[in-house]
Amino acid sequence: MNDTTEHIGRNRVLTGDTPTGRLHLGHWVGSIEQRVAMQDDYDCFFLLANMHAFTTRADKPDDIRRDTIEIVKDWLAAGIDPARSTIVLQTEVPAIAELSWYFSMLIPFNRVMRNPTLKTEIETKGLGDKYSFGFPMYAVGQCADILAFRPEYVPVGEDQVAHIEMCREVARRFDQIYCGVDPHAEDEQYESQGGTFPIPKALVGRVGRLLGTDGSNKMSKSLNNAIFLSDSPKQVKKKVNSMYPGQSREPDQPGDPEINPVFQYADVFIKDKEFVAELRERYRAGDNLGDGHVKAHVIEAINELLEPMRRRRAEFEGPSGDDAVIEIIRDGTARANETAERTLHDAKQAMRLDFGERTLRWK
Ligand code: TRP
Repeated sequence: MNDTTEHIGRNRVLTGDTPTGRLHLGHWVGSIEQRVAMQDDYDCFFLLANMHAFTTRADKPDDIRRDTIEIVKDWLAAGIDPARSTIVLQTEVPAIAELSWYFSMLIPFNRVMRNPTLKTEIETKGLGDKYSFGFPMYAVGQCADILAFRPEYVPVGEDQVAHIEMCREVARRFDQIYCGVDPHAEDEQYESQGGTFPIPKALVGRVGRLLGTDGSNKMSKSLNNAIFLSDSPKQVKKKVNSMYPGQSREPDQPGDPEINPVFQYADVFIKDKEFVAELRERYRAGDNLGDGHVKAHVIEAINELLEPMRRRRAEFEGPSGDDAVIEIIRDGTARANETAERTLHDAKQAMRLDFGERTLRWK
């Protein structure tokens, strides 16, 4: 095992997505944008949480495989660059599965079941009391996803903060029990006090909650109110134009931009902030500004953002595109395993499980 392929001296970032479908603008402003921007300054690992996809869709292996490849295309289109960052396939990093077991013993069962993100998911996905044992287990698995890479930051959407908090608890507990770190130590001191794990921090993107095109709910694939990163210019236009502006008015009548969801998009996607302030003013004053006009500016801004993504995505179309994606996954996962195996080695040493050495072969 060696660390020569790592970008020595740079702090690490790890985050991931469960491959469940295409990424949309809510994902972009909630987290992806930030990940893309961090690639120059951090040693970034982006995890495909394909094992987690099985927690609710164990009977759909073909769909999960397809979604896994598609989400990589979304990432590449969005600007995640495999030359600078490492794309990791969760199911081929055995250290994650092993660490999950050890971590599951450091956290009370009831603490996991009280995790608000899990509870919300059980509700919104209508899982009732029929969910698999593996479903709540994924939250423990997520601690292992993160800690296997010992990152400083975990850029995620707002909904994931509860999971990162659990991960921080697990890391503290491990370091206290197995590495003798003082329970009163500050989070920043855990590594210097000999802890195996740092206490990673969540980083939430610039918009926690982007409205969907229905104007009332958070943008979400399942609510049918999403603008996808892969949408065509025509689809973007159609979706934005279908939005209800929250009120009925004529261009020369005063309006309230604050109850018009199109203005959230204007704020988020139009770069020229003075221009948006001006639009708001004119809308309020009823200064000959129709809703179609505001929408046209929003459509233009969104398409400007998506255009380079469409170009990059086009490079990965068809079966040869799938092959190229699989090559990227293989290459990244090989590098990721070097880091994760080193972590597992250190963790087992701390746990007095150092009975021998083991290496991983990867093809
Ligand atoms: N649970 C996350 C989601 O559904 C995906 C995920 C899996 C993740 N492992 C992770 C996110 C590790 C951050 C870090 O969005």
